[in-house]
Amino acid sequence: MDIATLDQQLRIPLIASPMFLVSGPELVLSCCQNNIVGSFPSVNRRTTEEFEEWLVEIKVGLKTYNEGSSKTAAPYAVNLVVHRTNPRWKADLAVCVKHEVPIIITSLGAATEVVEAVHSYGGLVFHDVTTPYHARKAANAGVDGIIAVCSGAGGHSGATNPFALVGEIRAFFDKSIILGGALSSGKDIAAALQMGADYAYMGTRFINVQESMAPRAYQDMIVEADSSQIIYTPSVTGVPANFLRPSLVAAGYDLTALGAPGKVNYGEKLKPPKEGTKTWVDTWSAGHGCGVIDDIPTVTQLVDRMEEEFKTSLEETIQKAKKYTN
Ligand SMILES: Cc1cc2nc3c(=O)[nH]c(=O)nc-3n(C[C@H](O)[C@H](O)[C@H](O)COP(=O)(O)O)c2cc1C
Repeated sequence: MDIATLDQQLRIPLIASPMFLVSGPELVLSCCQNNIVGSFPSVNRRTTEEFEEWLVEIKVGLKTYNEGSSKTAAPYAVNLVVHRTNPRWKADLAVCVKHEVPIIITSLGAATEVVEAVHSYGGLVFHDVTTPYHARKAANAGVDGIIAVCSGAGGHSGATNPFALVGEIRAFFDKSIILGGALSSGKDIAAALQMGADYAYMGTRFINVQESMAPRAYQDMIVEADSSQIIYTPSVTGVPANFLRPSLVAAGYDLTALGAPGKVNYGEKLKPPKEGTKTWVDTWSAGHGCGVIDDIPTVTQLVDRMEEEFKTSLEETIQKAKKYTN
């Protein structure tokens, strides 16, 4: 897999990003069959063996699809959390190498080891960052793409404005930049390209599709919420992340006790106070994009719509630009 081949297999430049407890084979297969990149975190299965079962399911699903279709599905990606807190990452990487996973998305450590292993079979490595410092480290490790996770993103969000972070990364990195953080429509994908990115990265939008593993009450909360309902705090997981306010209240959190990001010391990581509630399972993460998400379509319906919006938006931009090119 090289970037040129990836581009040939995409309808629109979009990666449905990996989400803990949300992305599984059904979502990945549906994304790839609709010619956008589908992905999932290896830790969505409890063991490396179970993770490998999902990989096989996805590979077989794509092979069957490609044999019976006039078009080739887009490649899939696996997210590896490369950090000492994930003792499985080396074993999971070995399984990815064995199955020649086309794209590996790394978060936290941009280990040169991962890049070497994945390049050995011709795969691509995209690394996600929230700061220029970590982007430089990833560039030095030889990654093929840097994912700029900007402010307003679901999960462990960055806090930097996307214009600033994309511009800073582009100044020293001439390979692919993937932009994430509150992107929800085809118009947003067009805007990402205009800003200097090569691909859009969407998480929250794909919580609300029929093929996601998110419970219906979580999806309904996203439909109901606007961006002011998103709380950015390090107190839930120990790292700044965005959560839906009603889910924190339901888990018993005192919102006034939550730490605010930006301090040198984030403050205490608090367990969900209500008996029987668990972080991520009951505290639901979403980005600022929830404000414009008001449905739960199938992936096919969503990608058809986004392709249309993407093309219309590019055309509108060309028309607007004409006013200034005389
Ligand atoms: C519920 C949820 C779980 C997530 N889990 C992961 C994860 O396991 N690994 C990862 O790299 N990113 C994870 N993310 C972050 C996304 O991959 C992506 O960076 C983010 O969703 C993009 O912003 P958006 O949600 O505004 O589109 C998660 C995001 C959400 C909303």
